[in-house]
Amino acid sequence: MGNFLAGKVVAVTGAGRGIGRAVALACAAEGAEVVVNDYGVSVDGAEPHSEIAETVVKEITAAGGEAVAVADDISTMDGGQRVVDTALSRYGRLDGAVCVAGILRERMLFNMSEEEWDPVVATHLKGTFTVFRAASAVMRRQRGGTLIGFTSGNHQGSVSQANYAAAKGGIISLVRSAALGLHKYGVTANAVAPVARTRMSAGVPMELAEIGEPEDVAPLVVYLLSERARQEGITGQVYTVAGPKIAVWAQPRELRAAYGEGPWTPERLADFLPGTVGQDPMPMLARLTEMAEAAARQDRPNA
Ligand SMILES: NC(=O)c1ccc[n+]([C@@H]2O[C@H](COP(=O)([O-])OP(=O)(O)OC[C@H]3O[C@@H](n4cnc5c(N)ncnc54)[C@H](O)[C@@H]3O)[C@@H](O)[C@H]2O)c1
Repeated sequence: MGNFLAGKVVAVTGAGRGIGRAVALACAAEGAEVVVNDYGVSVDGAEPHSEIAETVVKEITAAGGEAVAVADDISTMDGGQRVVDTALSRYGRLDGAVCVAGILRERMLFNMSEEEWDPVVATHLKGTFTVFRAASAVMRRQRGGTLIGFTSGNHQGSVSQANYAAAKGGIISLVRSAALGLHKYGVTANAVAPVARTRMSAGVPMELAEIGEPEDVAPLVVYLLSERARQEGITGQVYTVAGPKIAVWAQPRELRAAYGEGPWTPERLADFLPGTVGQDPMPMLARLTEMAEAAARQDRPNA
């Protein structure tokens, strides 16, 4: 066992399988006491039934670590609060909250139903809010802590996952808001956009040139939770990790500005805009053909 997180208490949502499980195991192996949350649902968020959070707790304790299970639904305020309250009642504090839980309901936008939109946004975006909300109140009192949200490269846009992409974009803005709002209390907030072989990525057409394992993602999360990252002042960042690759995403900012004379009219914009501020080409748009061909070939990462 390492000691990168010795003395810290970390809560991980969606920690029953996939990336969340790898993160929970790695945190415990580095000395953290871990709250393992998972609602135990199918990939589309239905049929909660399993005891997978408890199974991961058993794995951690068998390896000599310390953990407690919470099998709640983090898309509810009560569920998010219970994750944080369990850290406090069992371990007396909370140093890290890592929101990994997620589901997928794929559909083209023009066919997407409310039942496909709402649960996806509720699990990812609200499910990050419920835990961040409860955790940040504790961390503000403690004058320290680390919040980590899970986003995706798909925040750039996705052909058949408008619900998922919208939620993942929202998580980045939520993380940046937390970084700003909690800075003076010594709380950092960052986002991770992983690419890893799990049941979730297995069902998605192969749009991914680079992919790794859940165990490749966990060290980045451990590092971001550690004093080493906190001393560097790392906050408000989005990192991608895909196997051996690690990358930082740009901060959103205005790319080009131009000023007109007098009030804009549609006609004046039609004459002025294309040749001045113009467009910022969309990288995903350039990959549409490649992605359609991969989907037609039924390319899937092997989970
Ligand atoms: N695997 C990838 O390549 C990839 C790429 C980009 C982003 N992500 C993101 O990483 C995260 C983990 O994905 P994964 O691939 O490990 O998926 P996964 O399906 O293997 O695991 C997700 C876990 O979240 C749990 N969960 C779902 N809804 C929940 C709820 N309401 N409350 C508590 N737990 C809930 C599930 O039971 C499951 O165990 C997700 O947020 C996903 O969007 C993954």
